[in-house]
Amino acid sequence: MSLSILGIACSPRRDGNSTRLLLEAMATAKAAGHTPELLYLSDLKINPCQGCNACSAKGICVIKDDISILKEKLIQADRIILAAPIFMMGLNAQTKIIIDRMQPFWALKYLHHQTLTNPSGYERIGLYLGAAGLKKPDVFDCAERSIKTFFNMLDIRYAQPCLYGGIDLAGEINEHPTAFDDVRKATQALLIS
Ligand SMILES: Cc1cc2nc3c(=O)[nH]c(=O)nc-3n(C[C@H](O)[C@H](O)[C@H](O)COP(=O)(O)O)c2cc1C
Repeated sequence: MSLSILGIACSPRRDGNSTRLLLEAMATAKAAGHTPELLYLSDLKINPCQGCNACSAKGICVIKDDISILKEKLIQADRIILAAPIFMMGLNAQTKIIIDRMQPFWALKYLHHQTLTNPSGYERIGLYLGAAGLKKPDVFDCAERSIKTFFNMLDIRYAQPCLYGGIDLAGEINEHPTAFDDVRKATQALLIS
């Protein structure tokens, strides 16, 4: 079965470390016979949530921008692979903005009891690929909580992430002894789950 796989490159650095990991995941999925789609957030114009709560009524956002492109793809995807760096001990702003803009899905799920989950029990799965300059044990804690919330809102199971600290300059991930192998294995696991 061919899966719909969406890769989201969330770093403002198009050749950055997290995106390099994502490209490896995309190549792995392609080699396994799937047709992954890679989306660069930097190609979209997405504004931050205004907190107006208009979406509480029917799950419809009043801001008209490129979030609709992303939301459509998120609804359709069987597997989502999100690659994002750590900025100031949390997710970079571009990633956080799209997560906040998922509030209409939150409203549908928790206020209107509508779910994106297929009634047959078919499961969607999400993988988080991350890079951080610091090698501190808690450097991904804050980001992981937001990513888990993001996936949970979309009824997507959170897979074991691939997170790498001590990686700062663009391309430094290439020197990591296991990162690309880890990502290949994590992607293969997504495809057979
Ligand atoms: C504005 C900014 C803030 C950052 N803050 C942190 C931080 O708080 N902790 C950390 O470990 N790394 C921090 N970094 C370093 C990035 O996480 C690191 O360079 C990472 O490899 C970037 O991934 P990317 O190439 O995918 O964008 C910061 C980088 C920038 C540009």
